[in-house]
Amino acid sequence: MAHASVCFWRTSRRDVPTFRLARTLAPPVLEPKNCLAKPPGQSLFSDMAATRNSSFDDPFYQSADQFFPANSHLALTFDDITLATLYSEILPRDTQLDTQLAESLRLNIPVISADMDTVTESRMAIAMALNGGLGLIHYNMPEHEQLYEVSRVKYHVHGLIQEPIKVEPNQLIGDVLAMIEQKKFGFSTFPVVDKKGKLVGLLSGHVVKPRYAKKKVSEALTPRSQVHTVKKQELGKDPIARADKFFTEHIGIHKLLVVDEKDHLCGLITMSDVERITQERNAQFKPARDSRFRLVCGAAVSATRNAFGELDRKRILNHVEALVERGVDVVAVSTAHGHSKGVGDTVRVLHDAFPELPIIAGNVTSAAAVEFLADCGANAIKVGQGPGSICTTRNVAGVGIPQMTALYVCAQAAAKKKVTILADGGITKSGDLVKALTLSQAVICGGIFAGCGEAPGEIIEISGKFYKRYRGMGSYAAMKAGSAARYGHEKHATQKVAPEGVEALKEACGSVDRVLGQLVGGIQSGMGYLGAKNLAQLRDKARYIRVSPAGMREAAPHDVVELKTGN
Ligand code: XMP
Repeated sequence: MAHASVCFWRTSRRDVPTFRLARTLAPPVLEPKNCLAKPPGQSLFSDMAATRNSSFDDPFYQSADQFFPANSHLALTFDDITLATLYSEILPRDTQLDTQLAESLRLNIPVISADMDTVTESRMAIAMALNGGLGLIHYNMPEHEQLYEVSRVKYHVHGLIQEPIKVEPNQLIGDVLAMIEQKKFGFSTFPVVDKKGKLVGLLSGHVVKPRYAKKKVSEALTPRSQVHTVKKQELGKDPIARADKFFTEHIGIHKLLVVDEKDHLCGLITMSDVERITQERNAQFKPARDSRFRLVCGAAVSATRNAFGELDRKRILNHVEALVERGVDVVAVSTAHGHSKGVGDTVRVLHDAFPELPIIAGNVTSAAAVEFLADCGANAIKVGQGPGSICTTRNVAGVGIPQMTALYVCAQAAAKKKVTILADGGITKSGDLVKALTLSQAVICGGIFAGCGEAPGEIIEISGKFYKRYRGMGSYAAMKAGSAARYGHEKHATQKVAPEGVEALKEACGSVDRVLGQLVGGIQSGMGYLGAKNLAQLRDKARYIRVSPAGMREAAPHDVVELKTGN
């Protein structure tokens, strides 16, 4: 009886794989076999179809530990290699992409948006976390603004908001409007409490208007007797299900306040949050959330120096303390040269002060640097010097290592030190991502997301085409705006400083949802081809071979007139 083989080619992430009739007559055999060791009389062809591994492959397709040392004389990047496929029983749609970056930092997809001022602010970080990934908010802004950006992510959708923003009866509506503007809240309905935190009423968004600016909150609020509340202990194990039932039963009510026995406010649940969360429960890749159901968010910090050129420990600690108060899930000590005293000291200071806070540090490309940062207290290490699409570090400073070799070398030290590594930069297509994930726990992308609507900056039209600005954090303009310390220069860059990045444009490419859909689809296809159910299996099963320049050309569409690009 003929059996069907699965074809992974597909047009979208959720496509159902197509089935084709295989030429073999034998059903798949589950145990691995060597096709040379067959009882006589059986056809080699049917055996090969059922075989998972063959020693014929071994000299060509090598594991990481064979392949990279054998190519140690040459630094390799994504396009220099390709991955060999393996027998598979795994459908792309059944693969799991969750990844643990530190004890308390788990993502549902292994993708992080770069801490760059043209890539990640709160809108990008929200979109990344909603898709199961992580955004690192850049630090090219005043510290208090970075705190707001983190707050916006953490306040996005909570389920039960345990510490809702509240107002007092004596405040003016004008004060409330000023607070909304200053803190950039995306909502305007607030519980009203007295000095002891007891619920007095609800200030509805429809009265928070400039025309009422001079009125007191007490004159405009909906009184306590008309406000819908639930006692905290009545919420049970599933507050979302309880609130969902409440909103269905109370037509037109969108807010449910949670109080304790003494009528002190202790939470707020909104209908829109409940609806979003109920939808999420059915999604394949769930949003990345913290233990309090808030979206995860990271923030970059720099190894700031004081006027005497010493590490400004006090300032760094104060700022990170404020980030932690806002609920930040991870900080990234981001510099171009992570294997340096300043970065090591910063990581050590943060690790001592906030032992529970996951720390990302980098960037590095050597095992010694990974060991150094791990010993200082970093949990995840950024690997990548010069691979980025806007980087000129390799040309300007003559340093940096192509990504696949750098990742392999760093992965050895990371395994020894029990830390994780993040492949940072140079990813231009989902295939690069699959290759990077054979050696790392997650990837960081800048350019791929810089054209998205959620990236900071306006869309620019040039000759009928739409673009967004994308610049290196080591470009002259970005350093002038504040990122000079990342490249080891004085706080404000002067014309004498050699920039290590360019200012560029990226074609506008729609939403993060769309871009991530393509990337995640590509990762899942790659895992299907390698028979890997999860990322650990992908790392375990990967086998590599070098590609010739002609092979590289063969990999892209060729000898056709393209009507539509593949992306
Ligand atoms: P992609 O390729 O995703 O790279 O655009 C993003 C990563 O590039 C790094 N980066 C820089 N590297 N000069 C550099 O040499 C720069 O000006 C620069 N700015 C960003 C950074 O690691 C980022 O995640």
